[in-house]
Amino acid sequence: MSSRRDFIRKTAIAGTGAALAPKLSFGFDNFAGEKLKLGFIGVGLRGTNHLHNAIFRKDVEITAICDIDSNRIDIALKMLADGRRKKPEIYGKNEKDYLNLLENSDVDAVIIATPWLWHTRMAIDGMKAGKYSAVEVSASQTIEECWDLVNTHEETGTHFMFLENVCFRRDIMAVLNMVKQDVFGELLHFRCGYQHDLRGVKFNNGKDAYGKGVEFGEKGISEAKWRTKHSIYRNGDTYPTHGMGPIATMCDINRGNRFLSMTSHATKAVGLHRYVVNVGGKDHPNAKIKFRQGDIITSTIETANNETIIVTHDTNSPRPYSLGFRVQGANGLWEVDGNRIYLEGHSETNDEWDDATDWLKKYDHPLWQKYGEEATGAGHGGMDYFVMKAFVESAMQKIAPPIDAYDAASWSAITPLSEASIENNGKPQEFPDFTRGQWIKRKPYNWMKSEYNM
Ligand SMILES: NC(=O)c1ccc[n+]([C@@H]2O[C@H](COP(=O)([O-])OP(=O)(O)OC[C@H]3O[C@@H](n4cnc5c(N)ncnc54)[C@H](O)[C@@H]3O)[C@@H](O)[C@H]2O)c1
Repeated sequence: MSSRRDFIRKTAIAGTGAALAPKLSFGFDNFAGEKLKLGFIGVGLRGTNHLHNAIFRKDVEITAICDIDSNRIDIALKMLADGRRKKPEIYGKNEKDYLNLLENSDVDAVIIATPWLWHTRMAIDGMKAGKYSAVEVSASQTIEECWDLVNTHEETGTHFMFLENVCFRRDIMAVLNMVKQDVFGELLHFRCGYQHDLRGVKFNNGKDAYGKGVEFGEKGISEAKWRTKHSIYRNGDTYPTHGMGPIATMCDINRGNRFLSMTSHATKAVGLHRYVVNVGGKDHPNAKIKFRQGDIITSTIETANNETIIVTHDTNSPRPYSLGFRVQGANGLWEVDGNRIYLEGHSETNDEWDDATDWLKKYDHPLWQKYGEEATGAGHGGMDYFVMKAFVESAMQKIAPPIDAYDAASWSAITPLSEASIENNGKPQEFPDFTRGQWIKRKPYNWMKSEYNM
């Protein structure tokens, strides 16, 4: 995720249809004509980003879209028309109209990109309706919802994919390649998080999604409409998976390893109030609001294989964007900040960092080597191309996706467990074993393959 601004720019262009570059016409190499019939639930900023990437896949037909905001439907329809795609069935006359989309037999699979509180219930309904269901991050907000995802997947036998795009970022996949080739040696410690100044996202002026105004809720648009309330009512890490997902793939969580327990601590809440006062003035009604969410939330997780993972949530203060990755094993470590690697006996100078660039090139993932050029331009530096590719190709064959219901449940569980730990002065919280013991024998997903249709 190079930057939200980049994403906004691309999505805005996609909204006008001007970015429909013919170069981005991808799909199976051996594409034989069969198409995945895809429905979209939620075509806000993120949903239209996925729609943009789906339009360019030869193996996808977009048969239905649903959104309760008719402006977003209009934008999506224009994108489809500009991409010379057939008009899909439209849904969105009320908040439950997505259930009618799920009854449409012309839909094989759905992408859900709605506000967080809808994710689990929509995904569950999707699986119950037999649709291969994919949901945006985060998947679930409570431990009960995490179990609901897993239980519904097991009861229905319908596949579910969690759309954590950062798992497909080029540097992450190169480091994953290094981990799988044992370059770092036995794994010990990881750091990750979501460190992104979202003050201009949590508030806006009701017209522009980002960077202007201090309104939210009914007076805001896009994420300010729903995301900000989580900072008022909840004190915890509400967005853990961009950081946690990539690390979980590296240390095989739910596949030979699992999260055991977690402690979390929160700083005081200063940033959002300060922002409202600075931008809207001390007399603005929102200056009276007391925000619960601490500006910086720090959680430490222990795994069954005796690794530790520090996860940071930092979205209410001025700071440059970073997911703060560190991957450390017995031989050395990679840190994203500073773009640096140190490997004992292999780095140029003893006890000094190597610039990571050449290492990351050397271990570039086969998928990126093959499709990197196509991917560039698909959004978020290309990782959105790969998350869509993984989803479509897995759904076409009705096979398990790289990131499944167990992953979604255990990564998303960080949110309620962090809230419980903070509420109890940092008391350790145990992770439920969402695999019910199966993590011992589940094999790691083969992340190193160069296609998903095999
Ligand atoms: N993976 C990423 O990089 C990334 C980036 C941005 C957002 N996201 C995630 O994507 C999701 C959506 O975010 P966004 O920025 O697009 O938000 P948004 O507010 O712009 O879009 C959400 C859309 O859902 C629609 N909606 C709400 N309730 C609905 C219902 N019951 N039925 C149908 N439509 C409904 C809204 O009208 C809106 O158009 C969030 O979970 C967010 O965290 C992920």
